[in-house]
This record gives sequence, C-alpha cells and structure tokens, in this order.
Amino acid sequence: MKTQILAPSLLSADFSNLGSEIKKIENNQGGAVHIDVMDGSFVPEITYGEPVIRSIRKLTKLPFDVHLMIEKPELHIESFVNAGADWITFHFEATNHVHRIIQMIHEAGKKAGVAVCPGTPVSLLSEILPSADIILVMTVNPGWGGQKIIPSCVEKVAELKKYREEHSLNYKISVDGGINNETLSSVIDAGTDIVVSGSCFFNGSLKWS
Ligand code: DX5
Ligand code: ZN
Repeated sequence: MKTQILAPSLLSADFSNLGSEIKKIENNQGGAVHIDVMDGSFVPEITYGEPVIRSIRKLTKLPFDVHLMIEKPELHIESFVNAGADWITFHFEATNHVHRIIQMIHEAGKKAGVAVCPGTPVSLLSEILPSADIILVMTVNPGWGGQKIIPSCVEKVAELKKYREEHSLNYKISVDGGINNETLSSVIDAGTDIVVSGSCFFNGSLKWS
C-alpha cells in the first residue's frame, strides 16, 4: 500500500460522463480529483472553470485539487473557493503576487499550492516555501495531457525534499505530467507525496498498488 496520494487528472476523462469518471477515481485508489483549469492565455488550451467544478462538487467527497493554469490567478481565487476547490494550486510564473495569493487562499481556509514549470528553478521559491502547503513540480510543460516526462524535472522533487528536511518545513510535493508505469518509481523514489496521473490512469493501465 503506497503512502503517496494518487490524484487522477480529469483532463483525460470522458467529459460527457464525468459522474462515472469520478466513480472510477473513487474505485481505483484515487485520493483526490485533480482538475486542470486552462485559460487559453497562460497555456494555449481552454478547459473548464468554476461552473463545471460547482456541478461536479456534489458527486464526491474527495478533495478537489484544482490546478490553475491561468494568468492573474489572484482575480479568481474567491470564485474557485466558492465552487468547491479544496487545494488551490496556481503557477509561480503567472503572477507577481505569489505570497499574497497564498495568503488569500489561507484566509479562505483552503490549502495553497504553487506550481513550477520545467524552466523555473526551485531556488526561486525559497521565500514562499515556508507558507505553501503544496509545491507542484510540472514534469512536462503545462497545457496538454499525454506528454513524455522531462527527467531533469524529477531532480527538483529530491531538491525540495532535502530543503524541507533542512528547514523543518511542511509542504507536500506533487508531480504532474508524464507519469506512467515506467516513470512512477522515479518520482516516488525522489520523494513525491502526491502523484497526478491523467492519460495513464484513465486508459486503465496505471499500476498503483
Ligand atoms: C498538464 C496537466 C496535467 C495532465 C497530466 O498541463 O497539468 O495534470 O493532465 O496528464 P498526463 O498524466 O497524461 O501527463
Ligand atoms: Zn495538472
């Protein structure tokens, strides 16, 4: 039995059957529902937003792990809180106000996550690591499911784990992108706490236990 939390990403689910796809998450050891929100600006695609989250909120008690790939996330925190998000992760690269947004999320009583693209080094995060609840390491470039993992990004997980120990901090480390049966052990060995899986989970091939 793994101690890590599996967070399947709805991005690879059948959008015409979200109810049964969420049941699949509950029945296959999912510990959270990862919901990728894309705005067509921070990343090229547009997915779904608050109304969809609000309507699927009633289908499960699992935490909603909302990954905001949107510009100026500070303008939307309140509405994602109201829609039912439990963990709200926004991109370090998408705002000038990382610290303030963490405060906004905490004031709403939710967990605050900060995501980093492959091009962003962990060394830029030192000022916000003491207040973040989750650091989401993108192991592909954000915007699409089904891409190949970028192996050098996995090193960030080990770096974040070491830093957490050395500074007695508490954030959880999440990995997102390119996780499959070949790459899973590398991110677990590096020290991840939360594993996001989209295409591999929803095509039914992920071997979790
Ligand atoms: C990509 C998203 C991911 C995506 C992962 O921008 O953040 O959550 O769903 O998909 P896979 O697991 O297929 O790489
Ligand atoms: Zn994601």
